[in-house]
Amino acid sequence: MKVVLVMAMTVDGKISRNPLEPVDWTGREDKKAFVRITRDAGVVIMGARTFDTIRRPLPDRKNIVLTRDTTRTSDHPELIFTDQSPSKILEALEEERIDTAALIGGAVVNTLFLRENLIDEIYVTVAPRLFGQGLSMFNEAFDKKVTLVDLVRLDEEAVLLKYAVKPQISFPS
Ligand SMILES: NC(=O)c1ccc[n+]([C@@H]2O[C@H](COP(=O)([O-])OP(=O)(O)OC[C@H]3O[C@@H](n4cnc5c(N)ncnc54)[C@H](OP(=O)(O)O)[C@@H]3O)[C@@H](O)[C@H]2O)c1
Repeated sequence: MKVVLVMAMTVDGKISRNPLEPVDWTGREDKKAFVRITRDAGVVIMGARTFDTIRRPLPDRKNIVLTRDTTRTSDHPELIFTDQSPSKILEALEEERIDTAALIGGAVVNTLFLRENLIDEIYVTVAPRLFGQGLSMFNEAFDKKVTLVDLVRLDEEAVLLKYAVKPQISFPS
C-alpha cells in the first residue's frame, strides 16, 4: 500500500493562512495536477477541517475523512467519516485491494501519518504566494530525509515537486 501526500504551499512554506479557509490560491495547473494524481489513486484521505473547507466529497474518488465526532455520518456512497487510526484505515483499504491512497491534508492529519512513517511520496506544488504566517504541512517537529524524484514546471509561476520519503530502518535493540 502506497500513500502519496498531495499538497500545495506558498514560497514561504505555508499551506493555508488559517484552518478555516479553502485552498483557492494555487492556480489552474495545480488543480489539474491534483485531480490527476488523486483520481489515479482513487482514494483521498483528509482531516475534518480540510473536508469542511471543501464541503463536498471529491467526485469519482473514495473520500475518507478523519474525525473524532461520532455524530458525523454520511449517506453518500463515496464518503466515509472515521476515527480509526491511519494504519487501520490503510489495512482496510488493502483488504479492498486498493494499492494507492492520496493523503490531502491538512497539517493535523498529515502529522498523524508521518508520525507512523506511513507516507511514501510527497507531491508539493510551490505556488507564487507569500503568507508570512499560517499552517505548515505538518504541525510537530520531524527530521526526516526525502529524495527528489521529479520536478515539473506547471506554468509560468508554479512548480510541482515530487519527493520520496526515505524508509525508516529500525534495528532490533
Ligand atoms: N495547501 C494545501 O495543499 C492544503 C491541503 C489540505 C488542507 N489545507 C488547509 O489546511 C487547513 C486544515 O488543516 P488542519 O491541520 O487545521 O486540519 P485537518 O488536518 O484538515 O483536520 C483536523 C481534524 O481532523 C480530526 N482529527 C484529528 N486527529 C484525529 C484522530 N486521531 N482521529 C480522528 N480524527 C482526527 C479532527 O476533527 P474533529 O474535530 O471533527 O474530531 C481535527 O479537527 C485548511 O485551512 C485547509 O485549507 C491546505
